Parts: sequence; structure tokens; C-alpha cells
Amino acid sequence: MREELLDPEAWPAEVDVEVADELGLRPRALDDFVGQAELKDHLTIILEAARRRGQAADHLLFAGPPGLGKTTLAGIVAAEMDVRMHVTSGPALDRAGDLASILSQLDEGDVLFIDEIHRLSRAVEEVLYPAMEDFQLDIVLGKGPAARSIRLDVPRFTLVGATTRTGLITGPLRDRFGLVARLDFYEKADLQSIVTRAAGIFGIAIDAPAAGEIAGRSRGTPRIANRLLRRVRDFAEVRGNGAIDLVAAQQGLSLFGVDDLGLDKLDRALLKALCERFGGGPVGLSTLAISVSEPAETVEDVAEPFLIQQGLLMRTPRGRVATPTAWQHLGLAVPATRQGDEPPPGLFG
Ligand SMILES: Nc1ncnc2c1ncn2[C@@H]1O[C@H](COP(=O)(O)OP(=O)(O)OP(=O)(O)O)[C@@H](O)[C@H]1O
Ligand SMILES: [Mg+2]
Repeated sequence: MREELLDPEAWPAEVDVEVADELGLRPRALDDFVGQAELKDHLTIILEAARRRGQAADHLLFAGPPGLGKTTLAGIVAAEMDVRMHVTSGPALDRAGDLASILSQLDEGDVLFIDEIHRLSRAVEEVLYPAMEDFQLDIVLGKGPAARSIRLDVPRFTLVGATTRTGLITGPLRDRFGLVARLDFYEKADLQSIVTRAAGIFGIAIDAPAAGEIAGRSRGTPRIANRLLRRVRDFAEVRGNGAIDLVAAQQGLSLFGVDDLGLDKLDRALLKALCERFGGGPVGLSTLAISVSEPAETVEDVAEPFLIQQGLLMRTPRGRVATPTAWQHLGLAVPATRQGDEPPPGLFG
């Protein structure tokens, strides 16, 4: 299903318009991929070298918060190497046999993309190791004392893994990648190019200040930049003449509840809970997650990285702590003991 989704011709009629939009927006060539200069440099060299040797590229692992371009990069690797991409994900590979059957369908040089690779089971990981390293597959036939294992060759392929959590990847798996790359949040200028590019693809009229405004409120994330562009387009079509200028962008964004730092509802709910209910912390992740009715994993992978990058939240050994900037951003008075983070009077004599 997901593999089909990469081919616009094969989209089922009911594919959500926004999903289709997002697929149409994915750059196909490394040159069209905006930002992440260092990573692009590394990839250019790795892919060019592999092409010259006529070999499959080395295995690649992309890590980073959602929406920064991991899946897009996997597609670019396949397109640049002119090979097919097979898509699966950690949770979808239930049993070792699932992986074995995917591996047996690969052609020489193909890209196998495993999304959420940190969620692979141990049993599947064990099958993956020899496949990555020696391009061999160990298959156990039969059960009990009569069981025997046979080795099969698999074609030389490129494994591209994506994860929102490098911390959860086991050492042996991580060591088998030729490149482990972390994607960072994007600079505003890069996001502005992404918004302008997307507007060009959709045929939306937008001026530079408006594109900059959307870029600045996109949480450093291309997917959010594209989404906000669509919301602002809706706003400009309904309330204006369809063209997006700075005023339309500002009004549209505030109508949809995006604040000037680009924080969304979950971000603000977290900061509010932290400051108003827990006195600014420290408070444990699970308590904080329960207080906003979200799984701890969502809080940790989706919300926190940006809040930390913006200096609004800190992870400490004793729990999550709101910074003075967080209090100010919420329009709350910074508690006296937090200013400059001095210890409460009397505590140290
Ligand atoms: N560098 C970039 N230049 C242009 N567009 C980009 C870039 N990175 C991402 N995008 C856009 O952002 C959208 C989200 O990217 P993508 O799906 O690759 O993110 P992801 O890291 O795989 O997210 P997730 O962790 O949620 O799977 C894509 O549709 C693509 O259009
Ligand atoms: Mg993805």
C-alpha cells in the first residue's frame, strides 16, 4: 500500500487530498532538497562514489523529529541511484519471515526503506544483521530437534532506516550503518524557500514577507510549513482574494491558533501544565504526559525536541523543567526563585 502511494499514477481515488499534496511536494532530486547542507554533502559523496563503483550505496540511517524529511531523503536516494524503493516499517515486520520475504523480492541495488526502525523486534533484527553485513539470509526450516538452518544469498541492497529516536536503536544495529545522520530543525530562510517552492507547485500567489511569516511559525519543520501554507491559502481564498500577503498570513495563522513562536496546541498545553500545575517542574515525563492526555512517546518525540531547541523546556535528571522564557511566553510571571535559577533562600545556609 505504501509503496503504491509513492507512485501518483497508482493513488487510489480516496487518498486524502492533503496526503496527495504532500507526496507531490516531496523533492525527488538531492538538488531540490532544501537545507541540511552538511548531510546533503555527505550523501552526494556517498551516492556518487557508489555510482562510480557501480555498487549499491552503503546503508543509511536518518534520525530526527517528525516532518524533517527522512522519508523524502529515502526516496531521493532511490531516485538518485535509479533503483526501486521498497517501503516497510518496524511495527509492520512482525516475524522474521516477514523480513525474509521482503528481502527475497529485492533486486540488485534496490533501496529497502524501514520506517520507525527502532520498533523492530529482536527476532527480526537478528535476521537483518547478516543481511546487512554479508547479504545473507539465515532461514530456519522445521521445528525442534529436526530444525535446520539454511543460508540464502540476498542481492546487494541499500537499507535506509528512519527513526525519531536514535537512543532506542541497539548498538549492533546502529554500527551496521555506513552513515548515521541526524536531521536538525530548519533555519527560517530554508523554510521560506520550502514555502515558496510549495506555493509554486500549488500555483498559490504569495509574497516574500508572507512566506517568511509562515516559515517563522513552522516549528523549524518543513511538513508544518507546507501545512500552514495550505491553511493560509484557505483563509485567503475565503476571506480575501486568494493572494497571500503579510496581513493575510498573520491573520490566517492566528485564526488557526499558531502563535508567534509557531507552538501548537500540544506544545502550549505542555508548557501550561508544567508551569501552572507543577510549578515549573521538575516533573517526570509520564506525569506530564498524563496531564496532557498524550502518550509519553508523543510528548518526548514530537513536542519536546522543539521546545528544548527553543530554550523553553529542559530535561534534567529529576524531570522536566520550564525555563523563565517559557513562563514569559505564556504571559505568566516568572516565580522569584526561578529568576537566574538561584537556589531558594536558606537552602544552602
Ligand atoms: N528539505 C526539504 N525540502 C523540501 N521539502 C521538504 C524537505 N524536507 C521535508 N520536506 C517536505 O516535508 C514533508 C515531510 O517530510 P517527510 O515525510 O520526509 O518527513 P519525515 O522525517 O519522514 O517525517 P516522519 O518522521 O513523520 O515520517 C514532505 O512532504 C516534503 O514535502
Ligand atoms: Mg516519514
